[in-house]
Amino acid sequence: MRVVTLLIKHSMTNKQREILVTSALPYANGSIHLGHMLEHIQSDIWVRYHKLRQRKCTFVCADDTHGTPVMLRAQQMGIAPEEMIERTRQEHQQDFIDFLIEYDNYYSTHSKESQFYTHQFYNKLNADGHISRRTISQLFDPEKEMFLPDRFVKGDCPKCGAPDQYGDNCDVCGATYSPTDLKNPRSVVSGATPIMKDSEHLFFELPHFESMLTDWLNDGHVQDEVANKLHEWLKDGLKAWDISRDKPYFGIEIPGQPGKYFYVWLDAPIGYIASFKNLCDRRDDLDFDHYWKADSTTELYHFIGKDITYFHCLFWPATLTGAGFRTPTAVNAHGFLTVNGTKMSKSKGTFVNARTYLNHMKPEYLRYYLAAKLSARLEDFDLNLEDFVQRVNSDLVGKLVNIASRTSGFIAKRFDNSLSEELHHIALLEQIQAAKDKIADHYEQREYSKAIREIMLLTDQANQYIAEQMPWSLVKNPETALQAHQVCSTALNAFRLLVIYLKPVLPELAQKTEHFLNVAPFTWTDIDNLLKEHGINTFKPMMQRLEVAQIERMIEDSIPTSETTPVKPVVEATAAKPKAEKQSMKSPTEAATNETTIEPIAEMINIEDFAKIDLRIAKIVKAEHVESANKLLRLELDIGLGTRQVFAGIKSAYSPEQLEGKLTVMVANLQPRKMRFGESQGMVLAAGPGGDDLYILNPDQGATPGMRVK
Ligand code: 2FM
Ligand code: ZN
Repeated sequence: MRVVTLLIKHSMTNKQREILVTSALPYANGSIHLGHMLEHIQSDIWVRYHKLRQRKCTFVCADDTHGTPVMLRAQQMGIAPEEMIERTRQEHQQDFIDFLIEYDNYYSTHSKESQFYTHQFYNKLNADGHISRRTISQLFDPEKEMFLPDRFVKGDCPKCGAPDQYGDNCDVCGATYSPTDLKNPRSVVSGATPIMKDSEHLFFELPHFESMLTDWLNDGHVQDEVANKLHEWLKDGLKAWDISRDKPYFGIEIPGQPGKYFYVWLDAPIGYIASFKNLCDRRDDLDFDHYWKADSTTELYHFIGKDITYFHCLFWPATLTGAGFRTPTAVNAHGFLTVNGTKMSKSKGTFVNARTYLNHMKPEYLRYYLAAKLSARLEDFDLNLEDFVQRVNSDLVGKLVNIASRTSGFIAKRFDNSLSEELHHIALLEQIQAAKDKIADHYEQREYSKAIREIMLLTDQANQYIAEQMPWSLVKNPETALQAHQVCSTALNAFRLLVIYLKPVLPELAQKTEHFLNVAPFTWTDIDNLLKEHGINTFKPMMQRLEVAQIERMIEDSIPTSETTPVKPVVEATAAKPKAEKQSMKSPTEAATNETTIEPIAEMINIEDFAKIDLRIAKIVKAEHVESANKLLRLELDIGLGTRQVFAGIKSAYSPEQLEGKLTVMVANLQPRKMRFGESQGMVLAAGPGGDDLYILNPDQGATPGMRVK
């Protein structure tokens, strides 16, 4: 609806569209994975579509480099954060290039431009009375001398008593609470017991922008599902937003406030502006103010995941307005990527990094599969690996490229690589050309699956035409040789039109086709022309079949092995967004942060302390789901001296069937604990941060139930 309005506006004014597009800035402390690729491919297809239409479309992104997790990650690696973020930026940039994502600029929020505009935003907001101050009390790590974000405090759940829970919610019973509610809290950074400490914080007065935001939402800049959620938040009442953090912090220092830094989420979206500014300084044809001034007539689109709508649809338009900048034309949110119907999982090997994918497969396979199934809605996207192989092979290799491979040989061998003067079946080509506006509209509205369906129907028609005409028979008879020439030339014209339509999705295939057909890079207007009496190049295979073995190897490569687990980047856990399922659209207090880290070594104990812990080899004789507990499995363990019942928070990582019959290690002398579901008589040992990233310990062959672990 909203895009249609825009289109009408543009066709009426006939103004050359000037479009700026962004993808969300990936955090600088982890690798790019297929979840990121969903978004970057979605936005890249949209940009390439506009570029194909010869619109002035600019596409920028950057790494999101600030915050506590980045700072701690660099400390762990023993390098300066500046060095770490630059290494990561280069890795990210290469991943995107290799996935054929064509950013005009891929920058960093740790830049002079980011600092400049963040200061400018703050100074203006402050001068206009939109910044307030008040003292708040927070958990503080007395050893590391730092305030602790929620995810950096662990302790016992205040509700069910489960040990080792994060400061914001319990993985076992699902309760949400504040870190100060935790029992026996400890700092994840040092292991120390946190204390409460006061500090003055700066707040952005979001409520000042309530009516502006209400108007903006009603003006159709967001999808309906998002608008509903935002209206709910507006109805609940907006709250001032805490935008400062005390040192130590890796970020942008607040002017006039030594030791205080802007919270990473304030400067992150300003990174869009900074990246564009950095590009403008290298490009004479781009005028910064023209794009960002309050009354700009250019278009600005942000592609984001649904978990960060609060930041992009409330804080961002409000801070932009307060700072005197334009607001986004639209914020386009998408759902999460699942693999084979479930959340990406490290233990199953379905948490696939971009580079691991690229080591096994061509980027266009994934680009095509995403396009073939993506809509403009917020629903999650399932990468079904079997369907993926089938779809790519059938549509791209079996149907599309097949048009060229089954007809080009005759043109080469019999007709001197030249297309005929007249074409045989103009009606087919006209039918393909006539789909132009419909396909354009689907691309414009991000309904890629509809565009692909349309294109594939036409591809089927072209194949049917070839099958009916049988050029391989026509060519044998001198009387029908001319017709064979015309049929093959018609088929190659059909192929050309279809590839133009697919160019936003398959840029490499389009390039190979341009070379094969000996033509200049395709633009959208080329759809109106046909190729006749035209010399082409000899056809070379354009796309190989995808083999199941390639997928299997990619999955194998994605399963962490015991040797590699400890040295894998910590933040992959971040990227996994362990709370993804619950995370649809959240307010910032609930929203995902990337604050996960390797745990520090706990307090030293002596050998006597250790001897008190009775660890036993246990055989899991039975494993089952526990009704109404979303994280727990009930295990029956044979420890040689009888069986024990243990409730273990490992449901996200294992199904009961995977566990039955396995040997593991349990703490046999832990005081039994009464839980809602029954008594837990011990604890099984597992490694990892939690969620699906958890690995139970397995003894070497030969160990038997009941053996003491020493
Ligand atoms: O959620 C994330 O991955 C953030 N790094 C996205 C930031 S988008 C923009 F605001 F910078
Ligand atoms: Zn709990």
